[in-house]
Amino acid sequence: MALRTAGSVLVVFLWSVTVVLGQKGWSVTYTPQSICTLKGSTAELSCSYTYPSGTVTTTLWFTEWGTGTEPKNLGQDPKYAGRVDYHLDKKKVCNLKIRDLRESDSATYRFRLLTDQTGGKYSGSPGVTLPVTGLQVKVTGGHQDKTLTCITTCILTDNPTYIWYKNEHKVKEDTSSLYSDYLSDADSYSCAVKGHEDLSSPAVYGPRNTSVSVSPSGEIVEGRSVTLTCSSDANPPVQNCTWWYRKNGGHYQSISNQNTEPQHVFNEIKSSDTGEYYCEARNEMGTDRSESINIDVKYGSKNTSVSISPSGEIVEGSSVTLTCTSDANPPLDKYTWYKKNVTSPKASGQSYSINNIISEDKGEYYCEAQNGRGSMNSTALMIIVAGKQTSVLTAAVGIIVVVLVLILCLSGLMCFRKKASKSTSDTRDTSENVQGDSSPVYDNISGMAMAPTTAQTAATVDQDDVHYARVHVFHSENQEVPLYSTVQLLQPRKKEEDVQYAAVKFNLPSAAIW
Ligand SMILES: *[C@@H]1O[C@H](CO)[C@@H](O)[C@H](O)[C@H]1NC(C)=O
Ligand SMILES: *[C@@H]1O[C@H](CO)[C@@H](O)[C@H](O)[C@H]1NC(C)=O
Ligand SMILES: *[C@@H]1O[C@H](CO)[C@@H](O)[C@H](O)[C@H]1NC(C)=O
Ligand SMILES: *[C@@H]1O[C@H](CO)[C@@H](O)[C@H](O)[C@H]1NC(C)=O
Ligand SMILES: *[C@@H]1O[C@H](CO)[C@@H](O)[C@H](O)[C@H]1NC(C)=O
Repeated sequence: MALRTAGSVLVVFLWSVTVVLGQKGWSVTYTPQSICTLKGSTAELSCSYTYPSGTVTTTLWFTEWGTGTEPKNLGQDPKYAGRVDYHLDKKKVCNLKIRDLRESDSATYRFRLLTDQTGGKYSGSPGVTLPVTGLQVKVTGGHQDKTLTCITTCILTDNPTYIWYKNEHKVKEDTSSLYSDYLSDADSYSCAVKGHEDLSSPAVYGPRNTSVSVSPSGEIVEGRSVTLTCSSDANPPVQNCTWWYRKNGGHYQSISNQNTEPQHVFNEIKSSDTGEYYCEARNEMGTDRSESINIDVKYGSKNTSVSISPSGEIVEGSSVTLTCTSDANPPLDKYTWYKKNVTSPKASGQSYSINNIISEDKGEYYCEAQNGRGSMNSTALMIIVAGKQTSVLTAAVGIIVVVLVLILCLSGLMCFRKKASKSTSDTRDTSENVQGDSSPVYDNISGMAMAPTTAQTAATVDQDDVHYARVHVFHSENQEVPLYSTVQLLQPRKKEEDVQYAAVKFNLPSAAIW
């Protein structure tokens, strides 16, 4: 209020001053020297002049005086074309009228006259300053107690009366430039100055028509860069934007707080970014939220794996079904089955059944899952076919082994009987040889088998009773161990069943010869 009063006083003061800056009869008088004018209105610059003698040949208004000898005549400036009127007459009046003022017209305007006398040129200083202002509504205050102020960039010359509009309907007329009432962010407010109702301010209102756009448009594919933009119709412009996100119908959570940028950028969008998004735009008048948009991130197959049914041992002649599972969006539409080291695909479809399995079906199987966006091969699943005959054979071999071992033991008995007739040192040597030898079982067995062979040539066959007693002495060294224990002692040395099998095989001829 005080400022406005001061402004008015200043204007009155300026108006009252009669500027006569004449020299030797030259003078230009501007009234007033400064006029704050509304954009779009008409400014009238009053001006009068005197000159010492001669005849006036040229008069002009100008704002710029560059390096040239004469300043640029406003009347010939295309910027003012059709907007300026001179009122020049012989009564030494030099009034200027500029219509439809623009903010770019803000300048200092000066008048110049030339006469036919030598040195008869004069420009009146300081000219008229003409600030051009638009009206604007400034919003201050918090959520509940907002105040609107109708502001200008210069002080309007005559005490203006302000008019307020709500949704384009006049609601208030007052000399105060303030408006404070219940303000809804859904309404729009503007102000004007009485007498210039057509030159009202732009309306202020909270954000409306808020929406989210996705760029690039079209399908959203994992790994790409995606930008969400929140756009809103708002005045003053949207200051802050908050993004909200929810997944699978859960609760919305804000993913950014008070973003001043209206964008949310995914540098590399992930499948986990799939969900619903909306933005909330805010300006000084209020907030508005957009509709939710659905972001559906498409991706090629992931985590491709093969499962087998039934699980467990696969026996020749049985059937199994392999199933390919994978995660993809959109769902997978193509499956191809491969077997390692076989170039052509084995089958297609999510499941692959192998009926009446034969041993040639053994191998590593994998599937390739595709959904048009990408494909992925599963890790391979090994299929081992256990033949039925094989198990029977194993049993048979087992029996044979037992029988052969018994035979060997018998031959061993005979051998020991023979050794008994030889020196004790010989026996010890053999025993040391057996114990110190870490080579496979068949070596030991053959060693035993060989002993009777050599013994056979050296000695005659003794009674079984004696033979038996010798075994006791030989194998136990210091302990008494029955025959079956001897067999057991040999067993732990055997590393694998296969080895046992091989050992018997190798020894079989010698045993048979004997
Ligand atoms: C929102 O925008 C649309 C299209 O630009 C327009 O037709 C509609 O009138 C606007 N609604 C509001 C409330 O401004
Ligand atoms: C926008 O955010 C900034 C920073 O968080 C905050 O200071 C400002 O008040 C916010 N503007 C509006 C209109 O809420
Ligand atoms: C897919 O694999 C990733 C990483 O190996 C894992 O984090 C994710 O849980 C898997 N997804 C599914 C559906 O198995
Ligand atoms: C496939 O072939 C490679 C080389 O030809 C061979 O080393 C590999 O053992 C084979 N794999 C199978 C499962 O037959
Ligand atoms: C899957 O395996 C097949 C056959 O070896 C091959 O042609 C294809 O390129 C593989 N796909 C992928 C994604 O590695």
